[in-house]
Amino acid sequence: MTNNQLTDSGQLRHFLTIEGLKKPLLTEIMDRAEQFSSISSRQVKKVPLLRGKTIVNLFFENSTRTRTTFEIAAKRLSADVINLNISTSATSKGESLLDTLHNLEAMHSDMFVVRHNESGAAEFIAQHVAPHVSVINAGDGCHAHPTQAMLDMFTIRRHKQHFPDLCVAIVGDILHSRVARSQIQALATLGVGEIRVIAPKTLLPADCQTLGVHVYHDMEAGLEGVDIIITLRLQLERMEGAMLPSAREFFHSYGLTEEKLLFAKPDAIVMHPGPINRGVEIASTVADGPQSVILEQVTHGIAVRMAVMSMALGSQPEQYEAMT
Ligand code: CP
Repeated sequence: MTNNQLTDSGQLRHFLTIEGLKKPLLTEIMDRAEQFSSISSRQVKKVPLLRGKTIVNLFFENSTRTRTTFEIAAKRLSADVINLNISTSATSKGESLLDTLHNLEAMHSDMFVVRHNESGAAEFIAQHVAPHVSVINAGDGCHAHPTQAMLDMFTIRRHKQHFPDLCVAIVGDILHSRVARSQIQALATLGVGEIRVIAPKTLLPADCQTLGVHVYHDMEAGLEGVDIIITLRLQLERMEGAMLPSAREFFHSYGLTEEKLLFAKPDAIVMHPGPINRGVEIASTVADGPQSVILEQVTHGIAVRMAVMSMALGSQPEQYEAMT
């Protein structure tokens, strides 16, 4: 993927993947999210930064956190938001994806937020939209989930500040996880000291060694001394054939329990992009425990998505500052 998501002057136009983006841009997203996060604690949770803009949520695959926080983020920026109900739209009558898009463009949309089960769908859409339209990837197949990765980086920075000092372990179904791919790219770009992946061989991508991560198959060794543990859902809907003996056996070997958490640093934080499957990749006592920041991640999704949407639509921070 090249930087066809940036304008000639290096500004964000689309947000399709972390791959190829430089550290200053990722830092700008987090800095801008930091500015926006205070809006949520105000009595009137709105700024008029995207007033007059129309944002269309196009979710071809189910979502709770991403779709809702994109909608809240757009509304906090005063944009008009349309949630296209795919199951009741004309796509169910055979209309092609491109025809649907061109019709939505004809309604003067400014941004499409796209989730799709096919890897590359958001980039395909970005290649075909009018020059004034931005596309944000809200998760495409096993490929990328860049706003999830950025809200995760924002959450890490809130707790740990200095990325180069950190050791991060990502545990579970790395193979099918668009979140893990985007997280690894973001962590590497931000200069994290060590990135580990912990998984059975069947749930690791073939190109794992090229991702710049250390591979572990054993939780005890992989969690030793880590600062951050990111657990992942088993993406059963993307698995072809039997890749695991059973969910119960997976939990026994790779589920994050209080006992296994003791191998990490005492102040380690536990993350999960959601949805969580309790008793499969994580024990309830850990998911709800004092080291868990899982619900914080969800909250930070609003500010990070406000940052990305405002950057892609060319609104400058000074405009926001002038409004506060
Ligand atoms: N993390 C995440 O993408 O969750 P949803 O599928 O609920 O959007």
